[in-house]
Amino acid sequence: MPSRRPALLAIASAIAAAALLASPAVAVAAPPEYTPGADGAGDPYFPLAGNGGTDIVHYHLDLDYTPAPPDPAPIEGRLDGVATIDLVPTQDLSRFNLDLRGLTATEVTVAGKAATFTQTSNELVITPSKKVKAGKAAQVVVRYGGTTTRPTDIEGALYGWVTTRDGAMVVSEPDGSATWFPVNDHPTDKATFSFEITVPEGLVAVANGLPSRPATTADGRTTWYWDAPDPMAAYLATASVGDYVVNQYVAANGTPIFDAVDPARLGAPSESLALTSDMLVFFESLYGPYPFGSYGAIVDDDSVGYALETQTRSFFSRTAREGTVAHELAHQWMGDEVSPFRWADIWLNEGWATYSQWMWTEHRGGQTAQASFDDYLSIPADDEEWELVVADPGPLGLFLNPVYDRGAATLHALRVRIGDEAFFDLAKQWVERYGGGTASTADFIALAEEVSGAELGDFFDIWLYTPEKPTDW
Ligand code: TRP
Ligand code: ZN
Repeated sequence: MPSRRPALLAIASAIAAAALLASPAVAVAAPPEYTPGADGAGDPYFPLAGNGGTDIVHYHLDLDYTPAPPDPAPIEGRLDGVATIDLVPTQDLSRFNLDLRGLTATEVTVAGKAATFTQTSNELVITPSKKVKAGKAAQVVVRYGGTTTRPTDIEGALYGWVTTRDGAMVVSEPDGSATWFPVNDHPTDKATFSFEITVPEGLVAVANGLPSRPATTADGRTTWYWDAPDPMAAYLATASVGDYVVNQYVAANGTPIFDAVDPARLGAPSESLALTSDMLVFFESLYGPYPFGSYGAIVDDDSVGYALETQTRSFFSRTAREGTVAHELAHQWMGDEVSPFRWADIWLNEGWATYSQWMWTEHRGGQTAQASFDDYLSIPADDEEWELVVADPGPLGLFLNPVYDRGAATLHALRVRIGDEAFFDLAKQWVERYGGGTASTADFIALAEEVSGAELGDFFDIWLYTPEKPTDW
């Protein structure tokens, strides 16, 4: 469900007809213009992420997975999948792409008919046997599979379908979903998801949303069923597999919680997770109603190193410190419900999540948000902290410290500038207006000016676009 759909191309035949009338010398009408869908969504940071010409509405992922065997065998698993994808073409398509990396497609159908296909390193290129018309919903089924390893992102950090000896941790920001299913891997095409994940008996497969029926076991393998009905950016999907202990309850705001915790991690992480209910109530008071139908955490023993705000089911590796638990929960509003229009807009995710941590700490009687801001601003002006343009950090700078801390400081400075009433009104309207879709830095600046009535161009230039320490704003 893209938030900004390209206009439909529906005038080709009308133009051909007009040309015929105008010049009787032309004997044959031009054929209708069926063209290939683009190989990317148009994001300059990740040119091949996402695709053009299709709007994906729903993914049903039927996955069969076996983790890596014990040491000293290589850490390689086996994944076989059938992806059933409901999409609506946004142009008349002669062919179209899905993103798929490191796995092999073996069979593709479009609207029930066998399609031909080829693969490059990141693209599955599908040529339907019958051309596909704009606006006419079609179901695409892709059978695929292969050996799973431990993929890394552009910075060398583990992400995507990360194979372990007791399962898999599945955390795909920004463009790692293509390592585990055929996908339009860009936040501008949100879709609903459902999952059927079959794993060796004794392991638990945890995805987004809630179980849609009880797990079933046959011949030593268990199938877990999940339904995630809230539209979701592909990087927020998960299907993590482990030796988890499950804890289900209802939070104080009424949200059903499903936590899955590695048995080796039932100590301190569980104490932080127990604050989830209070945190939901606190963030609802700041940002409006929790946007999704469920929440919960996955705490995995393995070491991807950091946490991810997987939609409705935040992922934590090893530790789940209180600040991180608050950070990933706040992302559900800021990042998940409202997602970046382009990856350059990442400070809107990380700045809000970090500022939410500052506010949670103050709420708990710890350091005030103002004190966190003052601490940050005590970094000397010649420190490289101030050298990043946070609203355009580059693909290698997406998760650098200033995106988080200068992003948070920007929001605090804005709050002081426009006052609490306008600031929290802005936060709520941001979620209300752009929820379910994506928004950009320009959208944020425009809404901040609209809500506050202030002229904020210079303010945001200094905070977001100038690679120097702000001194006067
Ligand atoms: N968005 C995450 C956070 O700040 C960090 C992150 C980026 C990440 N890419 C990732 C985590 C890939 C896990 C995997 O909470
Ligand atoms: Zn974050």
